Amino acid sequence: MRIFISLALVAALGLCVAIVFVLRGPVPAGDWLTSPAASFELAQGENPHPVVLDRPVAKPLSAMAKLGRQVFFDPSLSSSGRLSCASCHSPQHFYGPPNAQPVMFGGPNLTRQGVRAVPSLMYLETELNFSIGPDPAGEADILPTLPQRAALGALVPRVTKTAQSTAQTAANIVPQGGLFWDGRANTLQEQAMGPLLSPFEMDGGSIARVAAILRAAPYAKSFTQLFGPNILNDPHMLVSEAMFAVARYQIEDESFHPFSSKYDAWLEGKARLTPTEMRGYLLFNNPAKGDCAACHLDQPSPDGQPPLFTDHQYEALGVPRNPDLAVNKNPNYFDEGICGPYRTNLAQETQYCGMFLTPTLRNVATRRVFFHNGIYHSLKQVLDFYDFRDTDPSKIYPKTVDGKVEKFNDLPQRFWSNVDTLDPPFDRHIGEKPALTPREEQDIIAFLRTLTDGYLPAAGA
Ligand code: HEC
Ligand code: HEC
Repeated sequence: MRIFISLALVAALGLCVAIVFVLRGPVPAGDWLTSPAASFELAQGENPHPVVLDRPVAKPLSAMAKLGRQVFFDPSLSSSGRLSCASCHSPQHFYGPPNAQPVMFGGPNLTRQGVRAVPSLMYLETELNFSIGPDPAGEADILPTLPQRAALGALVPRVTKTAQSTAQTAANIVPQGGLFWDGRANTLQEQAMGPLLSPFEMDGGSIARVAAILRAAPYAKSFTQLFGPNILNDPHMLVSEAMFAVARYQIEDESFHPFSSKYDAWLEGKARLTPTEMRGYLLFNNPAKGDCAACHLDQPSPDGQPPLFTDHQYEALGVPRNPDLAVNKNPNYFDEGICGPYRTNLAQETQYCGMFLTPTLRNVATRRVFFHNGIYHSLKQVLDFYDFRDTDPSKIYPKTVDGKVEKFNDLPQRFWSNVDTLDPPFDRHIGEKPALTPREEQDIIAFLRTLTDGYLPAAGA
């Protein structure tokens, strides 16, 4: 009975979230249709509704975060002695991969190929815990389990995502939140253990080995200063606190969340978009065109929280298999995201097989590898995927010897029905007109370039 009350509360909460979002007012991108004044300003490249963005206040790093910074850049923790967190999450590359390889190499000789593209570490500090549907935390005395929420999600119809319906879709009872492409970690601290010990990454070996290195590190005395003298004798605590410190570094250091892109300046009325950037912005927000903002949310919240270009939800887009990955030599190997093989607690919920977290698009134009399996190396290829996946799949997927297009070739056929075919631009059919012309693709790419941090208004407004 109490479980049912909890489930009802989840549903009720979802409804409330929807109502709040609907009341939030018109999506600004709709303005240009209705308001002549706003459309005049947009035509000038200006933001008709400037806002004051609420950025995290930059403060000097705490002692904990300073210790975390040393751990973050310390390659001695890896078995090769050559890999630190910063090797894959490069500060010079907005904490994304330093090169165009689809995945990075790790292990003792840096010869073991990883399995997924390296995500950026920026803008993760507000990521909520993994859940299915909006989180009812604190509302119910017994929280429904993930399988119970999944069962509820199967009963409640999911609202189609468009750039104009983000309000309602926020309440969809679907997987959301969490870290990694499959959401299998909830906190930055929990997360950091993964690469530290993974044989494909830093390959730290064991907690005992990593603890021994930390005890001998030049910064070892910071541990005793922060956690007391006994910390060095407790290997699990020592490694766990080291990862806590790394998490503090990512949370406190301004370089992980500067919100200093041209688009942020534009939101504040301090920059003018060029005509191609402005066309791109409108296409990004137009449900009949790119509809990108349906999932990559681009509007600030009413209280000025800058947009993160993700709705934190998961989708199966059916991106093509990457033949450059060593794991893919095995025809029976599939990376199914939420339902495995790296995440293990939702393997039974096969309706989620193939789903991956929607990544932020901030700084995306500086990346040279895209999607969870690193299949693409340019934004043009990514845009072509959105444009032609359904209208002309022969441009996207390989063909069998007898000429059949292998659509969704990176997912077992039994999961093809999980692939998103509802949300524009994925609602089209073979032979129909693609959502975007080549020029419109270029406009969207120009807009994506405005999302790169480090814009100086004086230099290029
Ligand atoms: C060999 C390359 C490599 C190294 C070294 C590495 N990572 Fe990663 N990191 C990855 C990959 C690949 C992923 C995505 C894995 C997945 O989704 O399964 C990832 C994911 C993450 C994420 C989740 C990001 C997101 O968008 O959800 C965080 C946080 C992170 N790493 C932090 C760290 C920290 C802290 C260290 C050092 C202790 C580190 N990483 C070392 C490759 C690396
Ligand atoms: C239905 C939700 C949805 C819509 C609509 C959508 N995306 Fe995405 N996007 C995703 C998801 C989910 C991923 C990750 C998929 C994966 O790796 O398997 C992604 C990945 C990306 C990436 C790769 C980022 C990286 O770091 O690897 C880019 C670039 C991107 N999207 C741009 C766009 C653009 C441009 C549009 C509009 C034409 C768009 N998206 C529309 C959900 C969406």
